[in-house]
Amino acid sequence: MSDRYLNFANTPAGRRLVGAFGLPAPLPLERWVAGRNRPLEGALLIGGVGDLSAAVAGFAKRLTDELFAPRDEQSLPRWTAEHGPKLKGLVFDASSLQRFEDLDALRQFFQPALKNLDRCPHVVVLGRAPETLTDPQASSVQRALEGFTRSLAKEIRRGGTVQLLHVDPGAEDQLEGALRFLLSPKSAYISAQVLRLQPCAQQVADWTRPLAGKTALVTGASRGIGAAIAETLARDGATVLLLDVPPAKDALDALAARLGGRSLALDICAEDAPAKLVEALPDGVDIVVHNAGITRDKTLAKMSEGLWESVIDVNLRAPHQLTAALLEAGTLRDDGRVVLIASLSGIAGNVGQTNYATSKAGLIGLAQSWAPTLAQRGISINAVAPGFIETSMTAAIPFTIREAGRRMNSMNQGGLPQDVAEAVAWFAQPGSGAVSGQVLRVCGQSLLGA
Ligand SMILES: NC(=O)c1ccc[n+]([C@@H]2O[C@H](COP(=O)([O-])OP(=O)(O)OC[C@H]3O[C@@H](n4cnc5c(N)ncnc54)[C@H](O)[C@@H]3O)[C@@H](O)[C@H]2O)c1
Repeated sequence: MSDRYLNFANTPAGRRLVGAFGLPAPLPLERWVAGRNRPLEGALLIGGVGDLSAAVAGFAKRLTDELFAPRDEQSLPRWTAEHGPKLKGLVFDASSLQRFEDLDALRQFFQPALKNLDRCPHVVVLGRAPETLTDPQASSVQRALEGFTRSLAKEIRRGGTVQLLHVDPGAEDQLEGALRFLLSPKSAYISAQVLRLQPCAQQVADWTRPLAGKTALVTGASRGIGAAIAETLARDGATVLLLDVPPAKDALDALAARLGGRSLALDICAEDAPAKLVEALPDGVDIVVHNAGITRDKTLAKMSEGLWESVIDVNLRAPHQLTAALLEAGTLRDDGRVVLIASLSGIAGNVGQTNYATSKAGLIGLAQSWAPTLAQRGISINAVAPGFIETSMTAAIPFTIREAGRRMNSMNQGGLPQDVAEAVAWFAQPGSGAVSGQVLRVCGQSLLGA
């Protein structure tokens, strides 16, 4: 559904009114469009001293041909606030910061850049996971980066994003895939996130079709976020099997035909669903996206057993049972990728959604608890937690609550199904086995549960 306020706020009259009354001023976000090649169209400034900035400098020319450093020493052209150009991306290697006084390097790097940002800039700070460091001050300094990046994400405006990426020793060769996602419009609605890369033996062979040769299953794929996920995985080269309930068969068949995939009309809660799914994938599956979900909202005082159970069954029990069945039958291949679509409700909680939030928090628990076991076969499992996304699910919310949900984030707007789909497609890549047991919020840095 269209966001009329966003459209109005970006007309000349709207801009004046928004400014005069101090109203939220959402900017149309840049998103990835088919046919685009480079992750970054504009200038990228690479700063900080350490192994990670050296690793980035090694592949940065594949991200953009406008590379700069804040000093002369990195064999890149020098960027200054006086001479520009405006910056589309910033990467700062903070991994070598160990003492409290080192933290001022952040201020020194970012301050001049902040007045010279292009529209929708993307910022990534690189660091080390604090829990891996034994020196208390070094660990504290690395933890401090989280407060810095989350605050910068709130200050950056202009539709910009800021992330903190922890890179374990040995995972430097997965930085390119992560930065191709985090510095590009594919992560338009993701901000203030902390992710950790660990060593992973798999690599993307062709960045134009990173999922070529892979088979992907998407549940709840006939519409909304599931349909966007199916389209995006197919765009990236995967062969898709689309699943949805039997009443959605026509829409499902039409989408499957358009994407050159197959469809499977099946209720994921049916007793024979695990067997039917295994049967539908005789050659195995590489990517499994548990997207099907329902809401049955009522405050707990008025919640019937039926409303409670139906939500737990669809959103939590079925993804668990189906994944277990695919594993047991050997259908889910080694180096597989499992993505669970959770929700911000499962992190922040929500009035009237005890059942839904319980199920979605449970999915996050599944990702965390399953990750170590699945890692033995090179399989990753992660949760994507969308905030307010413009779909028929959110269109059904009463107007005032819907408006509040849309505006209460750093982007002052809702996300699009494509934003969730891009996150899933990144998790689905071979090299993204570097990330497992983690939760990625696609919520424009929502104020809820922050
Ligand atoms: N829209 C949002 O803002 C938002 C926010 C957070 C999380 N999510 C989650 O994202 C996912 C997709 O949401 P959406 O907004 O596209 O919803 P949607 O209602 O448009 O789509 C959900 C799909 O799941 C299918 N489905 C439901 N029960 C099923 C079952 N038993 N078996 C097979 N398929 C079933 C439905 O038929 C539908 O096609 C859900 O898991 C939802 O909880 C959405």
